[in-house]
Amino acid sequence: MSGLLAGKRILVTGVLTESSIAFHTARLAQEEGAEVVLTGFGRLSLVQRIARRLPKPAPVIELDVQNKEHLAGLADQVREHLGAGVGLDGVVHSIAFAPQDALGGNFLNTEWESVATAVEVSAYSLKSLTIALLPLLEQRGGSVVGMDFDAQVAWPKYDWMGVSKAALEATCRYLARDLGDRNVRVNLVSAGPIKSMAAKSIPGFEELADVWNSRAPIGWDLADPEPAARGVAALLSDWFPKTTGEIVHVDGGVHMMGA
Ligand SMILES: NC(=O)c1ccc[n+]([C@@H]2O[C@H](COP(=O)([O-])OP(=O)(O)OC[C@H]3O[C@@H](n4cnc5c(N)ncnc54)[C@H](O)[C@@H]3O)[C@@H](O)[C@H]2O)c1
Repeated sequence: MSGLLAGKRILVTGVLTESSIAFHTARLAQEEGAEVVLTGFGRLSLVQRIARRLPKPAPVIELDVQNKEHLAGLADQVREHLGAGVGLDGVVHSIAFAPQDALGGNFLNTEWESVATAVEVSAYSLKSLTIALLPLLEQRGGSVVGMDFDAQVAWPKYDWMGVSKAALEATCRYLARDLGDRNVRVNLVSAGPIKSMAAKSIPGFEELADVWNSRAPIGWDLADPEPAARGVAALLSDWFPKTTGEIVHVDGGVHMMGA
C-alpha cells in the first residue's frame, strides 16, 4: 500500500457537512492509505450521509465531548470497528462550539455558563478525547492533531471563542508534555478562515475573512479547506516524528505579517 498515511488507523471527529475541515481531512487520509473511523455529534443521520461521500465507507460513532458515558465507551466502540488489539495511529480533534452570547461583540457581558461551555467543548475536550483514546494510541505510538485559530492576538467578534482557542493552545502543550513518554505527539494546525458551519455561526466572520484577502502573502481561499486538511495529514504522518506541542500555521502567512 502506498501513500503518506498507508496502513495507519485514524479517528476523525468533527465531520458535519462537506465544508467541514474534518471531512477533507478524512477524505485525504483515506486517499493517502489510512483506515478512517469518524465520530459525529448530534445530527448523526446527517453525518452518516456526509460520510457516504468519502472515497470509502467509514463507520460513525456517536460522540458528544460533554457526555462522560460517550467518552468512557469510545475506545471500546473503536475496537469494535477496527478489531481488538490493533490500536490507533492518529486522532483528529476538529471540534468547537460557543453559545451565541459568547461571540459577536458581547465579550464584556458574557456569563460564565456560556464561557464554560465554550472552553469545555472547544479546549478541554482535546484532553478528554485524547485520554479516552490513550489505551489505543499508546499501543502504536500516536499523533493527535487539533484545529486552532490564532489565539496570540484579539480578533473582532471572536470573543470567548478566542479565549477558548488560547486554552486549546495551552492544553496542547501540557498534553504534549505529559504524553511524550507514552509515545504520543500532540500538535495543532492554526488555519486561516474557511466557510464552514462553524464559521457561519460567527457573526462578523466576513470582516475577519477580509483580513486574509489583503494580508496573506501567498494568498488564501476561504472556500478551500484542503490546505488545512493537508497540514493535518502531514502532522499525522511519520514526517514530523520529533514535533510535539507545536502549532503549525496553515494560514497563507497572515500570522507573521506586521501590517
Ligand atoms: N472555519 C474556520 O474558519 C476555522 C479556522 C480555524 C480553525 N477552525 C477550527 O476547525 C475546527 C472544525 O471547524 P469547521 O470550520 O470544520 O466547522 P464545522 O462546523 O464543520 O465543525 C465543527 C464541529 O464541531 C462539532 N461539535 C460541536 N459541539 C460538539 C460536541 N459537544 N461534541 C462533539 N463535537 C461537537 C460539530 O458537530 C462539528 O462537526 C474547529 O475547531 C474550528 O474552530 C475553523
